[in-house]
Amino acid sequence: MCRPDHYDVVYEINPWMSVERTPDTSRAWDQWHALHDALSQLPGVAVELIPQVRGCPDMVFTANAGLVRGAKAVLARFRHPERGVEEPHYRSWLEGQGLEVVEPPLGMSFEGEGDALFAGGALVTGYYQRSDARASAFLTDELGCLTLSLCLVDARWYHLDTCFLPLGGGVVAYYPGAMDGYAERVIERNFEAIRVPEDDAARFACNAVVIDRHVVMPAGCDETAATLEGRGYSVVCVDTSEFIKAGGSCKCLTLHLDHPPMA
Ligand code: ARG
Repeated sequence: MCRPDHYDVVYEINPWMSVERTPDTSRAWDQWHALHDALSQLPGVAVELIPQVRGCPDMVFTANAGLVRGAKAVLARFRHPERGVEEPHYRSWLEGQGLEVVEPPLGMSFEGEGDALFAGGALVTGYYQRSDARASAFLTDELGCLTLSLCLVDARWYHLDTCFLPLGGGVVAYYPGAMDGYAERVIERNFEAIRVPEDDAARFACNAVVIDRHVVMPAGCDETAATLEGRGYSVVCVDTSEFIKAGGSCKCLTLHLDHPPMA
């Protein structure tokens, strides 16, 4: 995670962001700490911190730093230059963790875990809005995994982690309206899928952190929270209103560092 020392909305690269509607710094700070505490209290979780660099206001969204699998990290290459400035900082931090860092080829956009999530033995990727379709083939080669690629068609759900949530054991939650019909069929055929209603999806219901049977998710997604509780998950809700002003919530604010290598 990255403490929101320099978090702000100073440019607009998704429909949630408006420079006329900037985050309240002290509320953002409290919300970030509530998320940090909720995660730190889960069994087996240790939270590492990367310092936020001035001039990188979106760096709090560490999910976009890259994708880590075993001892390898595939670094992000951002679509927008506004975020490209974060790349060297993520590279040095990941290298400092002893990880081998590989970069996507020049000209290939890939926005890290924001668009690449492991689910039921496969790597599921999102493309079209931020990451390129061919980044999926690059990840398959680099990480040696089976990849299922989903085309994201609605600008409000511009990253995969805003509309697709792996819940462990081949169960996923997703918002069908964010993707094309083929993507919907891929999900329904490969997973036990829970469909999230549009209202909850627009409150970032899919943008949750899942650790075993624990789900830490944004507040206000009552229907989805009840569905997950009904299936036996233990759900904690955190208010992330100040981060939704930049288009991100719980999952975007974290990067998973300890995925085991592919078998
Ligand atoms: N303002 C950031 C952007 O548009 C938000 C990133 C949210 N991250 C995520 N993994 N969905 O890039």
